[in-house]
Amino acid sequence: MSSTTSTFFHSPVFLNESIDNLGIKEDGVYVDCTYGRGGHSKKILSKLGDKGRLLSLDKDLEAEEHAKKAFINDKRFKFIRANFSKINEIVEKNTYTGGVDGILIDLGVSSPQLDNASRGFSFLKNGPLDMRMDQTQKLTAEDWISNSDYNELKSVIKNYGDEKYASKIARKIIEKNTTKKIRSTSELQILIEEIYPKGKSKKNPATKTFQAIRIHINDEINELKKILENSLNILHKEGRIVVITFHSLEDRIVKKFFKENSNPLRLLSNVPIPKDYDRPKLKELVTIKKVTEQEYEKNPRSRSAKLRVAERI
Ligand SMILES: C[S@@+](CC[C@H](N)C(=O)[O-])C[C@H]1O[C@@H](n2cnc3c(N)ncnc32)[C@H](O)[C@@H]1O
Repeated sequence: MSSTTSTFFHSPVFLNESIDNLGIKEDGVYVDCTYGRGGHSKKILSKLGDKGRLLSLDKDLEAEEHAKKAFINDKRFKFIRANFSKINEIVEKNTYTGGVDGILIDLGVSSPQLDNASRGFSFLKNGPLDMRMDQTQKLTAEDWISNSDYNELKSVIKNYGDEKYASKIARKIIEKNTTKKIRSTSELQILIEEIYPKGKSKKNPATKTFQAIRIHINDEINELKKILENSLNILHKEGRIVVITFHSLEDRIVKKFFKENSNPLRLLSNVPIPKDYDRPKLKELVTIKKVTEQEYEKNPRSRSAKLRVAERI
């Protein structure tokens, strides 16, 4: 295994809870939408019989390299490097059944992405301002912050980071870029630290801005909305969808989607109701809002993780 895939480790979050709640059938077909370093995939495979199938997806080249080595001899396993929003086409091409018995989505970045300074995700490590999960994508964080105007910077930092000082940060980025372009994670982190009122935040002041830029660069919100919608078309009856989120913006989207599809609006009795309009498509099964103490101690990055599970009806 190359140094890129072997040096950095990822401790899977909600490992037992997520796999137990997928309710795995030995001969079922499952999709792990976020392979990372295969922690969840490995556990799914351990529950499948000879006829079971696992399709794992990730857009990261290093995740692909890892998957192709780790499970190369397992005929039940297939890895596809792709955006998970494309799940419908992928499932149609790669399964005989045209549908699946379970979908797992473990959102956000993997520890190897965060820990490798050259990927540019972390404000704690100096590296190029990159932040692309898919290294073949053109747009990097540096390109984006050099070419965006004040309003675009401000709106991303505010909406995706819930950052109170979004306007100040956006203004400072524009100002700095006109004299010397911001190229590294440390330059951006220091700029934010300088304008942040001292003692106002327990977290590093750059936390929210880095999160916001990462979400924007990787189109994370649209990807999430699309896969949730698409899951309804490919989940077999009683098939489960398990989603692990790491911040409230993601969790709100999943919560709303599950609620809307398990309790569709009842229309007024004098309005003609289109066929099937108000028939629920999902049943909410489980929500876990906190990892266990032991898991938190083992992996402090799991601090904000939440897990939601629904079943197709
Ligand atoms: C938290 S990690 C998953 C860790 C994994 N469950 C494990 O146990 O190793 C999230 C992974 O999802 C991938 N990812 C995030 N959004 C994606 C998307 N829209 N399409 C494909 N992969 C995505 C990231 O590249 C990252 O490797």
